[in-house]
Amino acid sequence: MKIKRNWLIPIVAIVSVQCLFASSIALAQKDWPTRSISLVVPFAAGGPTDTIARLIAVPMGQALGQTVIVDNVPGAGGTIASTKVARATPDGYTIYIHHMGMATANALYDKLPYDPLTSFEYIGQVADVPMVLLGKKDLPANNFKELEAYIKANGSKVTMANAGPGAVSQLCGLLFQSRLGIKLTNIPYKGTGPALTDLLGGQVDLLCDQTTQTIPYIKDGRVKVFGTTTMKRLPAIPNVPTLNEQGLKGFEVKVWHGVYAPKGTPQPVLDKLNAALKKALNSPDVRKRLEDANIDIVPMEKVSAQGLKSHLESEINIWGPVIRKSNISD
Ligand code: MLT
Repeated sequence: MKIKRNWLIPIVAIVSVQCLFASSIALAQKDWPTRSISLVVPFAAGGPTDTIARLIAVPMGQALGQTVIVDNVPGAGGTIASTKVARATPDGYTIYIHHMGMATANALYDKLPYDPLTSFEYIGQVADVPMVLLGKKDLPANNFKELEAYIKANGSKVTMANAGPGAVSQLCGLLFQSRLGIKLTNIPYKGTGPALTDLLGGQVDLLCDQTTQTIPYIKDGRVKVFGTTTMKRLPAIPNVPTLNEQGLKGFEVKVWHGVYAPKGTPQPVLDKLNAALKKALNSPDVRKRLEDANIDIVPMEKVSAQGLKSHLESEINIWGPVIRKSNISD
């Protein structure tokens, strides 16, 4: 009897501690968020991913009753930020926006410290952004044919900026070089924000970038444009032909974005984040700002965990073979 009672005391203590722990987690989830939330961006400030992040951060914060602070963690084409988020505490105070680099990194890196399919929770897709092939203002070529001839004549003397392995600017640039059968000098930056600054300053010759920031520079002639990476011309720049129609058949890169959280973030928290993201994407101000840059907000059913996860899976299956077949490397 005595022995049994001695056993009972620690068991009762463990059960009560567990109950207390469980109810404090439940309470924390119910009250969440009680402090600001960090929205990690895998590229430099001032670039396309940063711009979309800052556009949604404010209305998401308003919906959640706390500030959503953008935290730029650039480097290694987004993989440094992905690793940081995969290892973050899954309490809802760290969330992450990344583009299709989440689907291409596996094929570009031998070994990643995270797994895009198992290291994250999925909150929802955001928007799709077209890309444009740009040149510095005083590049001698004035159209795609002239650019092709210029590149063939000058080879590796021609420089092309990108945001590192895993960045879409790198993928687009290397696919372009692979289709032309020529290797240029590729220059990595921490994002296409700083890369675009150098293109505008004439320090680099070419850049494949998203339309998020680039339309005004194209319109006022501060950069040259040689084509879009879409199958149809873009309404904001209807006179710019697609690369597809200029001979690079099937050249299509549309940059999709998703919002993630570290694996293990509680479901009630993910539900609140998803509702806040939907609210942000339905805000007339955000819609207008995105539409002006030719950015398509995805249909609301894709702003969901399932919508993002199945899109990521299908993109991994699409880009893996394309990257391996093109044998692209920097
Ligand atoms: C950025 O935000 O700087 C770009 O999305 C980088 C890239 O080209 O992927």
